[in-house]
Amino acid sequence: MKGTVLITGASGGFGMLFAQAFEEQGYALLLHGRDKARLQLTLASLKRPELHRTLLGELSARKDVNELIDKIMLESDLVGIVNNAGFGTWGAFEMCENVPQLDVLRVDLLAPVMLSHALLPCLKKRQGFMVNVSSLAGETPLPYMSTYGAAKAGLTFWSEALRAELQGNVRIVTLAPGPSPTGFRAVSGAPKGKGGLFSTSPNIVVDAAMQSLAKGGGYCVPGWRHKALWCLQKLMPRILSLPMIARYLKP
Ligand SMILES: NC(=O)c1ccc[n+]([C@@H]2O[C@H](COP(=O)([O-])OP(=O)(O)OC[C@H]3O[C@@H](n4cnc5c(N)ncnc54)[C@H](OP(=O)(O)O)[C@@H]3O)[C@@H](O)[C@H]2O)c1
Repeated sequence: MKGTVLITGASGGFGMLFAQAFEEQGYALLLHGRDKARLQLTLASLKRPELHRTLLGELSARKDVNELIDKIMLESDLVGIVNNAGFGTWGAFEMCENVPQLDVLRVDLLAPVMLSHALLPCLKKRQGFMVNVSSLAGETPLPYMSTYGAAKAGLTFWSEALRAELQGNVRIVTLAPGPSPTGFRAVSGAPKGKGGLFSTSPNIVVDAAMQSLAKGGGYCVPGWRHKALWCLQKLMPRILSLPMIARYLKP
């Protein structure tokens, strides 16, 4: 075994595919999630489930994140973290309940920062790596998913800054996908079809992240559709893009 990789949000979507990809590369896995049954499905999808372990934990509560850290700290051979768990809420800011929106910030931004700060000494000791699953939602303000966009903008900036600080010690991938058919849309409450034009398979997303990691890390926008969306985000002035996105995402 090449060491242990922690994957948060491994109970489906990108997390499950990351589990399969890292197992293929010879790592032991610590698979985190909240839903025990779905986490077991991820485990069952692996070639040698007996080599991997599962960890349950709610990431919106500081106390739970600290308890999770204590458990992970018992791993002497942690070499990588995939900060993947996350969710968004769709709807007008004033209509969405406050607590779920605060939880978006806690799960998508605060938890990765807390986990990574505590576990970084292990990663540095083994010249390890981190994959931070951010989003193209962090590249442009996102009306009707405003808090999610803010969390992902924060995650991208934090991850990119860390990538420069830790160059030569810890490889970091800042993964910035656009829409992809996982459980994400249903959890957010967005209707089917939103973002469909740029939709890219989860396999392409995870493959791109793995390739970026193999090359030493970087800012990774997966697949040509997401790259095209990223180019649009960079080229279009905010005065045009904001009303356009607002019209498109308005409930
Ligand atoms: N799919 C997209 O279109 C898209 C695009 C850009 C970025 N992303 C990002 O990709 C990452 C993975 O999402 P996905 O697309 O694979 O969606 P997904 O299928 O809904 O998976 C989300 C994962 O996050 C976990 N999670 C959610 N809330 C949590 C909480 N409060 N505490 C602990 N774990 C929690 C879920 O665990 P349980 O199921 O066990 O609750 C699940 O394993 C997220 O960070 C998301 O923001 C997704």
